[in-house]
This record gives sequence, C-alpha cells and structure tokens, in this order.
Amino acid sequence: MLVAPSILSADFGRLAEEVKDICEGGADLIHIDVMDGHFVPNMTIGPIVVEAVAKAATKPLDIHLMVQNNAFFVDLFAEFKPEYISFHVEEEKHPHRLIQKIRNYGIKPALVLNPGTTPKLIEYLIEDIDMVLLMSVNPGFGGQKFIPIYEKICEVKEMCEAKNPDCLIEVDGGVSDKNVKELKSAGVDIVVSGSYIFKQKDKKAAIESLKV
Ligand code: DX5
Ligand code: ZN
Repeated sequence: MLVAPSILSADFGRLAEEVKDICEGGADLIHIDVMDGHFVPNMTIGPIVVEAVAKAATKPLDIHLMVQNNAFFVDLFAEFKPEYISFHVEEEKHPHRLIQKIRNYGIKPALVLNPGTTPKLIEYLIEDIDMVLLMSVNPGFGGQKFIPIYEKICEVKEMCEAKNPDCLIEVDGGVSDKNVKELKSAGVDIVVSGSYIFKQKDKKAAIESLKV
C-alpha cells in the first residue's frame, strides 16, 4: 500500500517541519487538500502554501481539488509540478477537456468521486486518467468517520482492469490501521490519511502501520 499523508491535519505553524517529517517517515506522496468555500463548506490551501510545501517536500505532490472552477485552479497550481491533480466529477461540466489540460502540463490527471456518486460517470474517462480517487467521507473536513465504500472500490477495480490496468485507486477519508487491510484486499493502491497520522507523535511508525 502506498501512503499519502494529508497535510490538512498538520500543524500549519510549523508546516515545513511537518512536511519534512512525513517525507522522512516514508510518505509516498504528499496529499494537499484545496477547498474554496464553495464546492465544500471549508477553505484551506492556496498557492502561497502549496509553494511552501513544494519547497519543503522531497516526495511528489498529490493535489486534491475541492473547488468550483477547476480549470482556474489547475492553471494556478501547475507551476508547482505536482505528480497528480485530481478533481471532482460532480463539479465539472467538461471533465474530458480538463483531463487533457492537466496532461498538457505534464501532470497526471485523476478523477474524484464523492461517497454518493456512481462510478458510471467515469466509465468513458477511465482510459484517459492515471488515478481514481474514491472519497470514503464527504469532502470538506479531516477527522470524519470512514464510510465503507468497498462495493464501489471493487466496481472501479473491475472497470480499471477492463479498460486501463495502469490506473491506480486511491481512497481518502477516515483511513487508519483499522481499515487499511480491508482496503488493500478490495484493490486499493494508495491511501490518504490525515488525522490518523498527524495525531501520532511518531509519524514514521504511523505511516509504517498503513503499509500493508
Ligand atoms: C477531506 C479530505 C481528506 C482529509 C482526510 O475532504 O479530502 O484528504 O484530509 O483526513 P482524515 O484522514 O482525517 O479523514
Ligand atoms: Zn483529500
């Protein structure tokens, strides 16, 4: 299992240190939650903070957009050269066009589905993306209770195997050592984890406990 700690739960007063700590602790990606106060009822991180994270990080960035006007934010964050930019299909009228836009920047495009969104929406897009991000909480806040979306994971896994076997599956929300094994068996490649990792003193041990 690859692990992408979400800096949403980090101490922003000492963000650079926190980012270095998780990079040295074995993080595979640094997950950055961008919220605009419109798509979700919370506001988080803009380009100034992403720049600071990019400077401190020795691991690739995984930017998760929870915003309206996705294309504007893609243009804003492309200069930080993230590995992935993921956007919500619920909030995009032209997902195919946006995937090409992300790809043209040399960034891997990923699509996100809320817990209540059907994977049917991405059936004709799956060949064009590098990752599907399945939300196991409703987006907006860290520290929420995990919603068991195992059936959906299996459905998306089948879709990937049939149409794009290189496409990875990432799960985000309420992930801990309690559910990571089951997620692995369902076919998940990457877990995002915020509060579980950052509430522990030993980040390395916390990350290690998710590498099943
Ligand atoms: C929620 C965010 C998540 C969140 C995960 O909208 O997308 O990345 O930070 O936090 P935990 O692991 O605490 O659920
Ligand atoms: Zn996220």
